[in-house]
Amino acid sequence: MYYSDHLIEEVRTKNDIVDVIGGYLRIAKKGSSYFGLCPFHNEKSPSFSVSLHRQMYYCFGCGAGGNVFTFIMEYENFSFPEAVKLLADKAGVTLPEVEYSEEVRKKENKRMKLLEVNKEAAKYFYYQLRTERGRNAHNYLLNRNLTEETMQNFGLGYANKNNDDLTLYLKNKGYDENLVREAGLASFHEKHGTSDKFWNRVMFPIQDLNHRVIGFGGRVMGEGEPKYLNSPETMVFDKSRNLYGLNFARTSRKNHIILCEGYLDVIALNQAGFTQAAASLGTAFTAGQANLLRRYTEEVILAYDSDAAGEKAILRAITILKECGLTGRVLNLAPYKDPDDFVNNLGSEEFEKRINEAQNSFFYEISVLEKGYSLNDPEQKTRFHREIAKKLCTFSEEVERDNYLEAVCEKYHIGFENLRKLVLSYASQTGLAKPVSRPKSGLTSKLSPDDHAKKAERLLLTWLSEEPALYGQVKKYLAATDFSTELYQKVAKRLFTDIEKGEAEPAALISLFTDEEEQREVASLFNTRLGSLETKAEQEKAFNDIVRTVKKNSYASITASLGSDVQAITQALEGRKLLDELLKMNIKLP
Ligand code: UTP
Ligand code: MN
Repeated sequence: MYYSDHLIEEVRTKNDIVDVIGGYLRIAKKGSSYFGLCPFHNEKSPSFSVSLHRQMYYCFGCGAGGNVFTFIMEYENFSFPEAVKLLADKAGVTLPEVEYSEEVRKKENKRMKLLEVNKEAAKYFYYQLRTERGRNAHNYLLNRNLTEETMQNFGLGYANKNNDDLTLYLKNKGYDENLVREAGLASFHEKHGTSDKFWNRVMFPIQDLNHRVIGFGGRVMGEGEPKYLNSPETMVFDKSRNLYGLNFARTSRKNHIILCEGYLDVIALNQAGFTQAAASLGTAFTAGQANLLRRYTEEVILAYDSDAAGEKAILRAITILKECGLTGRVLNLAPYKDPDDFVNNLGSEEFEKRINEAQNSFFYEISVLEKGYSLNDPEQKTRFHREIAKKLCTFSEEVERDNYLEAVCEKYHIGFENLRKLVLSYASQTGLAKPVSRPKSGLTSKLSPDDHAKKAERLLLTWLSEEPALYGQVKKYLAATDFSTELYQKVAKRLFTDIEKGEAEPAALISLFTDEEEQREVASLFNTRLGSLETKAEQEKAFNDIVRTVKKNSYASITASLGSDVQAITQALEGRKLLDELLKMNIKLP
C-alpha cells in the first residue's frame, strides 16, 4: 500500500511538526527551536528539539530524529503507511484506497508479505494453545508460573504434533508455499516434500519495535534437543538488530534496561513488573543490539545466567557496551540460575534489591580476574595488580581513570601511588592512555576511519541543506557517487537535485524512505553538528576540510577498487585532478 510522493508531501506539509509534537509533549520555545523532554529515552533536562523552520525533530541525548511521520511511527509504534493515514485524517486529506508510487518497491512488498504470513502463523499458534490439542502446552506454561494475562501479552502459542498443519493452514488462506518457506516456517526435503519447521513446541513470537511478528522461538516441553528452535534469519528477521522484549522495554521509562539471556527470563520479569527487560535472541549480544539499546537508555544491567558460560558472556557484553558508550552493571542472581528462576523463588522485591545492588562493570571484571590469583602469594598478587593497571588503561578519560584508580585501590588495599605508577608505565608502552585530543574542526574525534568518512559526509549534507547557496561552489568537485554508502548516495542525489530546483527540504526527503531504520539514519544525516565554531575563519576552514575529506575518501575508495578497467582508471584520473584542484583552492562562505 503505497501513496505517491506527491500525496505524502501534501500530508506532511499540512501537518506542522510543532503542532503535532506539541499535542503529545510539552515543548517550549528557545531560540529558533522548541525544546522538551525526549519521549524516546529517559531524561531530566530537555534535549529533544523541534525545529519549526526545518520541520524536523532531533534528540541530542539519544539521537532520535526525523520528520512528522517518523515521530508518529516512533511514538505510536506505527508503520509508515499507518502514520501517513493518521496525519492525513488529522489534516483532512483524503487518501485513495491504494495508490502506487512511481517506484513500486518489490522488496517492500515482500517484506509486508513476510510480516503478514508471520502474523497469521502467530495467530494460528495462539489459537492452538487454547484448544484441546494444546492442553499439554498450556499446562506446561501454567507450570512455569505464567498467568493467562502474561501468555496473552506475549502472544504465546503452540505448534501441534502434526508436521504440516501450519503450512496447510496458510496455503488454505491463500499464501504461497514458497512464501511460507521463505518466512522460515516450513522447510523442503527432496523425500518428504514441504513440512512445518515447528511442531510440538510452545511458541514464542518474536516482535520488532512496532510489535510486528518477525520470527519465532519454539521450546520443547520438558527434555529434548534442541531445547529452543528459532526461526532462521529472513528479510524481516535480523537477529543482530533485534532484542526480544524491547518492544515493551523501550517504553518502560526506567533509567536502565535489563538484559537477560532467555525468552522466559524476559517474560517472567515482565510478569513480576519489570517491563524494562530484553534478551538477545539465542545468539551472542552484538554491537548492533547495543546501538539499538542506546536509543532508549544509557545504562544496561546484565542479568545473565550465573554459571561459567554466563560469566564469559557477561565479560563479552561489557566490552561491547563500553565500545558503544553504554554503562554496564552486573546483577547477581545467586543462588538462582536465571532471572526467571529468581523471581519465581524470591519475588519482585528481592529482585528490585538486586537491581539496586548491581555491580559496576569495571569492578565485576576485576572480581573475575581476582579469582585467577591467590592473593596470599606476593608474586601472584603483583601479577593481579598489573592486570588491574592494564584494565585501568582502557579508560581514555583521565578523570574517569583516576576515579577508578582511587576506588580500586581502596577496595583491594593497594597503595595509590604504586598502582598509579604501574598504570602510567603501561600507558606509555601501549599508548592507550593518551588523553582524547580536543576536536578542532569537528572531524578529529576518535572515530574509526569508516565512521570518520561518514561523519564528514553527514556534516556536509547538513551544511548544504542549511546553506544551499554553497552547493554552487562545490558542485564541480562533488557528485552523489562520492558518498560512501548506497543510502548516503541516494540522499545526496536527491538533495542536490532539490537544491538545483531551489526547493531543498530535508524533512521531505525523509519520506522517500519507508523503512524506520533508514528514516532514522536519513534524519541523522541532516542533524550532524560541528562543535562550536565561533569565527567565520574557523567555519570556513571546517567547511573546506569537510569537502576535502569527502572527496579524498571517495578517491581513495575508487583507487582501491580499481582493476584494469580502462573506464574506471579514467574516472580515477579525473577524480585526482579535481581533488588536486580542490586541495589548492579555498571555498568561501557567503
Ligand atoms: P537457556 O538454556 O538458559 O534457557 O537458554 P532458558 O532461557 O533458561 O529457558 P528455560 O528456562 O530452560 O525454558 C537461554 C536462551 O538461549 C537461547 C534461547 O533464546 C534461550 O531463551 N537458546 C537456548 C536457543 O536458542 N537454543 C537452545 O537450544 C537453547
Ligand atoms: Mn530459565
